[in-house]
Amino acid sequence: MELKMFEGKIALVTGATAGMGRATAIAFAREGAKVIMAARRTERGQEVVEQITGFGGESMFVKTDVRNPADVDNLFKTIMDKYGRLDFAFNNAGVSSPHNPTVIKYEDDEWDRIMETNLRGVWLCMKHEIDIMKKQGGGVIINTASILGVVGDWGLSHYCASKHGSLGLAKTAALEYCKDNIRINTICPGPILTEMLEFALPFMPKMLDVMAAKTALRRIGQPEEIAGAALWLCTDEAAFMMGKEIAIDGGYITY
Ligand SMILES: NC(=O)c1ccc[n+]([C@@H]2O[C@H](COP(=O)([O-])OP(=O)(O)OC[C@H]3O[C@@H](n4cnc5c(N)ncnc54)[C@H](OP(=O)(O)O)[C@@H]3O)[C@@H](O)[C@H]2O)c1
Repeated sequence: MELKMFEGKIALVTGATAGMGRATAIAFAREGAKVIMAARRTERGQEVVEQITGFGGESMFVKTDVRNPADVDNLFKTIMDKYGRLDFAFNNAGVSSPHNPTVIKYEDDEWDRIMETNLRGVWLCMKHEIDIMKKQGGGVIINTASILGVVGDWGLSHYCASKHGSLGLAKTAALEYCKDNIRINTICPGPILTEMLEFALPFMPKMLDVMAAKTALRRIGQPEEIAGAALWLCTDEAAFMMGKEIAIDGGYITY
């Protein structure tokens, strides 16, 4: 019988209806983990459940808006009612914006939408995850920030601020809870071909070329290249990795 890396483990992936979250949910399930997937689009979530069921994996979708505390409470209650534990959490749900005014020109609503999803949503989930993992004696948490959590970029001050914040949140929580055997790290992707980039293409048709040119490898990455890093961070091989970030970015060149 094929030995799978995460047999019997319980993994949560937020933002699992598309892009990196979907790729990571599938990768976890292929390695034997039971995967809980959270996002807002139920139909898309069910499609991923069917894909996982199709190769013999186990998963469920819980409709969740990570900005909404009641949804987040329900997500973790559902996980605990069904499985009673949570080994891995990939806080990956995120949004960007194709409209890029300078820092003084954002509409309040747009600023809030980005911050509430990319930063507050991660914090809301981490509170539950840490509480559960503390009680059960440990676990692994991974946040998806961005290479724009490390450097700035023109017209994306709200996104950059949210991702720098996510990185700081993870680093601090990692210090606070490593004594409880909880390892917390962050993945900082460079440009990856997902809906997030595709949605912006009508506004910036040359965007993919421009972004590829910012990488040393001169290409856009694929969601599966992020999934690989997320899974590795959950293994015992990554036991000495904590409170840090991994940039999977094709050698993103700053200015
Ligand atoms: N693509 C890139 O180049 C890139 C680069 C660096 C970092 N990132 C980051 O990587 C992460 C994944 O992005 P992606 O590129 O895979 O984007 P994507 O294909 O647009 O997927 C984003 C996921 O987040 C979910 N989501 C958005 N808002 C949500 C909310 N309020 N509550 C729950 N789920 C929500 C979406 O599902 P629903 O719409 O169904 O809710 C979707 O599943 C994000 O944090 C993003 O900021 C992306």
